[in-house]
Amino acid sequence: MTKIRTAVVGLNMGLQHAYAYAASEGAELRWVVDLDRDKAERVATELGCRAATDWTQVLDDVDAVSLCTPHHLHASQSLEAIAAGKHVLLEKPLAHTPEDCEAILRAAEEKGIVFMMAYIVRYLPIIRKLKELVETEAYGKPFNADCWIQGYLPPMPGSWFSRKETLGGGVLFSHGCHYVDLLLWLLGEPVSAVAVGTRSGTEWMEGEGTSHGVLTFEGGAVAHLETSWGIRYKETPALLHLHTPQALLTLNSGMSELRIVDEQGSRTLFGPVTPLTPQEGTKAIYEIEHFLSCIREGREPETGGREALRSHRAIWDMYRNGERVTMEGREAK
Ligand SMILES: NC(=O)c1ccc[n+]([C@@H]2O[C@H](COP(=O)([O-])OP(=O)(O)OC[C@H]3O[C@@H](n4cnc5c(N)ncnc54)[C@H](O)[C@@H]3O)[C@@H](O)[C@H]2O)c1
Repeated sequence: MTKIRTAVVGLNMGLQHAYAYAASEGAELRWVVDLDRDKAERVATELGCRAATDWTQVLDDVDAVSLCTPHHLHASQSLEAIAAGKHVLLEKPLAHTPEDCEAILRAAEEKGIVFMMAYIVRYLPIIRKLKELVETEAYGKPFNADCWIQGYLPPMPGSWFSRKETLGGGVLFSHGCHYVDLLLWLLGEPVSAVAVGTRSGTEWMEGEGTSHGVLTFEGGAVAHLETSWGIRYKETPALLHLHTPQALLTLNSGMSELRIVDEQGSRTLFGPVTPLTPQEGTKAIYEIEHFLSCIREGREPETGGREALRSHRAIWDMYRNGERVTMEGREAK
């Protein structure tokens, strides 16, 4: 198999991409890039590739690039990589506005490169199993979903995470986008979407640090999504509860076990998943293998840009409608 030559830009989340490329037989990790030279050199030494601080300088030497940089850089960096004819795996979210998203998608389509969003959750074997159960209606059709994403970020005032302009919104847009994407994938086309949020508890952020959203779907299902970066002490019920008329499907917070509760009682359907060894890569290995196979076979990734834009639009609707609800509530007082 010809190895696809890759580079990873941004070495925090990007480390996961770098380890996965290094572990994959289908890739040759040639460059790791970060503005922090020491970090890039440390990672390069560990993974046996070269280090750089200017990502544009390595493009000539690779076929594909993972962009794992702060959100406000996604649009310009994607456009630049696409213009150079490189396949792109972009960390979420796609971009801050529908116009920027469309510009990226058009450029990728015109250039004929593979453009994929790094929705890591979608490619986990446990999530594939859940999707199969939903799609085949093995336990009936889900009508209710509860999703709890209770995280904690230590305050980072002044960082790109803290500013709306650089983050693109609050926790719902930044972290919640994984789970809005997942809910749409599982439950179909959304017909209404609303979220309310607060900065209380995460005052260091300009956008909301805690969000409660509700989505309804064409097929009749309703979903609740709680997302937070302010929850330090928790007893999170699960990551996801999916109710069908026949059963409750439950995915634990660590996404390591899928269980069912039905008239036969409670039992495990998948897992517990054992962590991968360093030789096997990281959880990102599944999305990375998908990206590489799309390049080899010239096919559209399951999480292409259009799919991401669809779920981003749902989030922008959630914000817009939430603002209206909040304003109407204020006026009513
Ligand atoms: N999929 C996930 O579960 C997940 C988790 C965390 C972050 N992310 C995503 O990964 C991306 C990065 O987030 P993060 O938490 O790693 O951010 P971060 O700020 O912690 O790290 C970003 C890194 O990129 C480097 N960098 C910034 N600009 C650069 C440039 N122009 N060239 C080279 N390097 C540059 C920084 O020096 C830093 O090391 C975001 O899109 C974020 O949403 C995804």
